[in-house]
Amino acid sequence: MNVLRGIDEWRRFRAALTGSLGFVPTLGGLHEGHAALIQRAAADNDLAVVSLFLNPTQFNDPGDLASYPASLEDDLAHAEAQGAGAVLAPDREAIYADGFRYKVEEAPLSGELCGAHRPGHFSGVLTVVLKLLNLVKPDRAYFGEKDYQQLELIRGMAEAFFIDSEIVACPTVRDADGLALSSRNARLDAAGRALAPRLREALACPGSDGQVADALSRLGFDVDYVATRFGRRLAAASIPTRSPEGSVRLIDNIPLERVRSASDASGGDPS
Ligand code: PAF
Repeated sequence: MNVLRGIDEWRRFRAALTGSLGFVPTLGGLHEGHAALIQRAAADNDLAVVSLFLNPTQFNDPGDLASYPASLEDDLAHAEAQGAGAVLAPDREAIYADGFRYKVEEAPLSGELCGAHRPGHFSGVLTVVLKLLNLVKPDRAYFGEKDYQQLELIRGMAEAFFIDSEIVACPTVRDADGLALSSRNARLDAAGRALAPRLREALACPGSDGQVADALSRLGFDVDYVATRFGRRLAAASIPTRSPEGSVRLIDNIPLERVRSASDASGGDPS
């Protein structure tokens, strides 16, 4: 597997490539959810490329950035084991040589749902994804449906800026108990880990979004929102932990077809 750290080094590598390229952008902290994206990129294309870049501009909370669990050594081994042929792992100065003077702004969706609770987050995401798509020039770029609002925004940006890469959506990968895989899950303590799958369960319960939010609050979640958009029910909620970093924020969503109707629900009350 080729590991490229510099922008010029990457450009030379890219210029010499023939065949199709599938791209999986990541923050690092690779887990089985990323594994599915990398395997898909490798299966669909002649070469799968993974980027490892802990993008500071999308973290509105410095504590969240500082505690993000990414290890270059582990991530390189993981990417290679899943079939990546190359990894692009640039440093912050290389990606933000402009000091983040130039940025992608979108409205109104960037200010809603997660955007309402994480000011500037989606501007950081869209800016880095545009930079990476311009550098990597993939035929296809792979994103997980867990971050559904992000996926919608990236699709819209690719269309608005005439990006030639196909944006490929991949299903959420879950643990056996239904918890959506996320790098942040590693920060849950035992009680938090036991509570976390209830987020997915609650999303599937009948009743209004407000009722689901109330039920999650009763369970001990600190709820940012439960909302129906894009033909899906989406939620973001935090679980308090005893670790110094404080609470762990989880997001999840399911298609509305998976929301049980009141008549087929065994319990009815999500709590
Ligand atoms: O979903 C992520 O991991 C990040 O938001 C992304 C798309 C890699 C941009 O930094």
